[in-house]
This record gives sequence, structure tokens and C-alpha cells, in this order.
Amino acid sequence: MPTYKLFVLPGDGIGPEVMAEVEKIAAFLTREGLVKFEVERGLVGGSAYDVHGVAISEADMARAQAADAVLLAAVGGPKWDHVDYELRPEAGLLRLRKDLQLYANLRPAICYPALADASSLKRELVDGLDLMIVRELTGGVYFGEPKTITDLGNGQKRAIDTQVYDTYEIERIGRIAFELARKRRNKVTSSDKRNVMKSGVLWHEVISALHLREFPDVELEHQLADALGMQLVRRPKQFDVIVTDNLFGDMLSDVASMLTGSLGMLPSASLGEKNAVTGAPKALYEPVHGSAPDIAGKGIANPIAMISSLAMALRYSFNLGDLADRLDRSISAVLDKGLRTPDIAGGAATTLSTSEMGDAILEELRISVR
Ligand code: NAD
Ligand code: IPM
Ligand code: MN
Repeated sequence: MPTYKLFVLPGDGIGPEVMAEVEKIAAFLTREGLVKFEVERGLVGGSAYDVHGVAISEADMARAQAADAVLLAAVGGPKWDHVDYELRPEAGLLRLRKDLQLYANLRPAICYPALADASSLKRELVDGLDLMIVRELTGGVYFGEPKTITDLGNGQKRAIDTQVYDTYEIERIGRIAFELARKRRNKVTSSDKRNVMKSGVLWHEVISALHLREFPDVELEHQLADALGMQLVRRPKQFDVIVTDNLFGDMLSDVASMLTGSLGMLPSASLGEKNAVTGAPKALYEPVHGSAPDIAGKGIANPIAMISSLAMALRYSFNLGDLADRLDRSISAVLDKGLRTPDIAGGAATTLSTSEMGDAILEELRISVR
């Protein structure tokens, strides 16, 4: 069995708390000989800034490049609100995505049956929900130039962000979405704002042409991004795969998280080009949530999004779909027993701490691999 290099970046706020639970599980898998991980740890975000004066050091960038998979928990927090824009914690995460060319961000939103009542929507709307948001991750307004604030000299300033997409960027993310749909319920909903944005006009045109040319067997529909936001909370089970740009994908995935009960439930995989020899993609796995400054240090963060992100790593980087299924089923089993962290407790009298939740999932996993 090969040894895989896992590069672990706990980051800030609740990051280290939820990452500790994943490290327990990774260590267990290695001890049991189910997969061999060699774990290295690095710094990203505010914790890197405090030590190195930048949001990620060159040495840690090199480790990320050399890893078989990067696991990142969360960056950011009020402590670094006054740091220069270029050095802010989020810049470390954005640099990782850009330099590793992780253009495809897969954000599945699954509502575990036991959690249907924890959602802010009615049970019947979310029970059985299983959708996948495919977010473009290395382009659009996040990275477009110019990106400036200029002093106009008359007491006014002008801020510019640039939304820019080339054909190839839309085509490659579209391809990921159509291929995923073929393995699921065979439907893609593409989303843009072509009624006001040129990038939306091109997005619509490129996705439609790709569909005709390579994926005519997959059902394709288009929804304007504002309408899609509305449909996500109106009738979310109409969706299978949603493909959209970097900014709309960011917003829509936070919306989708509440369908599942909590932002603490949503994992993600950020994937790049496949290695020509091994077939494994460049990859970073991270929960959709942030550093949750409001609950950091209290030991009550939900580690499930982070643990499901490890499951995604097993599936997409190490070709261990079986083991990923076992881990997902362990999470489900724990929820079925009524065990909850506060964010998904829905008023339940007793709740688990972050580490108790991690232990409970590990215990289920232990039973399932015996
Ligand atoms: P957030 O996701 O950190 O928190 C939003 C709300 O969800 C908070 O009430 C928080 O307590 C709750 N929450 C989030 N994760 C949770 C979990 N695992 N368990 C229980 N509750 C959870 O978003 P925010 O407060 O807008 O941002 C805080 C900081 O995180 C900002 O600096 C932001 O830039 C950063 N951020 C980082 C990432 C990332 O590293 N991938 C993602 C989003 C936001
Ligand atoms: C996310 C986060 C990031 C984003 C921030 C922290 C840069 O919100 O991963 O969803 O906007 O992409
Ligand atoms: Mn976000």
C-alpha cells in the first residue's frame, strides 16, 4: 500500500479544534492499516501571519504542492481585521487555490434524515436532499484584475473588482459538472446573471455549446443566480448538480448549508488537474464554514464538515470510495443515535463537545471496519 502525504493546515478560530478530530481519524486509519498517511502540519491564515508575517509561507506552499492532499480547516478572525489586505488570513487560502490551480470546488449538500428537523426549512422540503454545487474556484471576481481602490482626490474613492472568465475556464468546470451528473441523477442546472453581466452571457453560451457537443444525454437547465437562490429555499430537491461561478457559488453554498441543518455540516473538495501518472488530482479538502470566531475556543464546534472533508479526500484523492462510505455512514449512525453538537441540537437537552462528537464518529468507524 502506498504512503500518502497529508498536509494539514488547521488555521484559525475553530480550525484547530475541528482538525484535531480529523487527525484522530487519520491516525486510526493508519494504525489499522486501512490507508497509510504521513501527516505534516503547517500554518495558514492568521496563525501563519503571527509567525511569518504572511498568510502562508513559501515553505508551506512548497509542502502543499508536494502533498498528495491538503486538509485545511478555516482561516480568519477579528484579531486580523486590521492587517493589510494582501496579508489578510483569507489571502493564504486564496493563494493555495490559485497556485495549486484548484479550479473545481465540489460542495455537496446532503440532509441526513436524522437532521431534517434541524434545518430552517420544513422537514418535507429537505428530507432526502442530496445536491452538489460545483463552484468555479480560480477565476471570476475573486482574482480578476484590476482590483483596486483609487483616491479620486475630491473626497471620493473608487473601488474596482473585475469579473473575468475565459472560454476554457467555463468549459473545464462545466465538464466536471456534467461528468458528476452522469454518476448521479443526470441533471445540471447552470447559473449566471446573463441579464446584466457579459461574463454571464459567455457562461451561458459556453455551457450550452459544451452540453450539445459532449453531454447531450444529460439534462441541462439554466437559472439566473438570483432566481436560483430563491429556488434553493423554495424547492431544493429539484436540484442535482448546480454549476456556477466563484462568487455565486460561494453565496449559494452557504445558503445550501442551512438546508442540511448547519454550516457545520458542509464539506468540500477543491480539485485541480489530474496527475498524468497516478491519475490523482491536485487537491485540497476544506469545510465550507469559516473560523466561527463567535464560538472559537469553547470546544463546541461541529467537526462533521471537517470529517466529511476527509471522507471526500478518501474518495477523490485515494480512490477509497468504500472507506469514504464507511466514514459517511459512521457520521449518519451517530446522528441517528440523537448525538448532537449545539448547532444541530434544535433545543435538545444534552449536547456533545467537539471532541466527544469526533470520538463518537471514530467509535462507529471502529465498529464498521472490524
Ligand atoms: P463562519 O462560517 O465562520 O461562521 C458563520 C456562523 O456559522 C457562525 O455563527 C458560526 O458560529 C457558525 N458555524 C460555522 N462553522 C461552524 C461549525 N463547524 N460548528 C458550529 N457552528 C459553526 O463565517 P463568518 O463568521 O462570516 O466568518 C468568520 C471568518 O472566517 C472570516 O474571517 C471569514 O473570512 C472566514 N472564513 C473562512 C473560510 C475558510 O477558511 N474556508 C470560510 C468562510 C469564512
Ligand atoms: C469559502 C470562504 C472563502 C471564499 C473566503 C474565506 C476567502 O468564504 O471558502 O466559502 O470566499 O471563497
Ligand atoms: Mn464562503
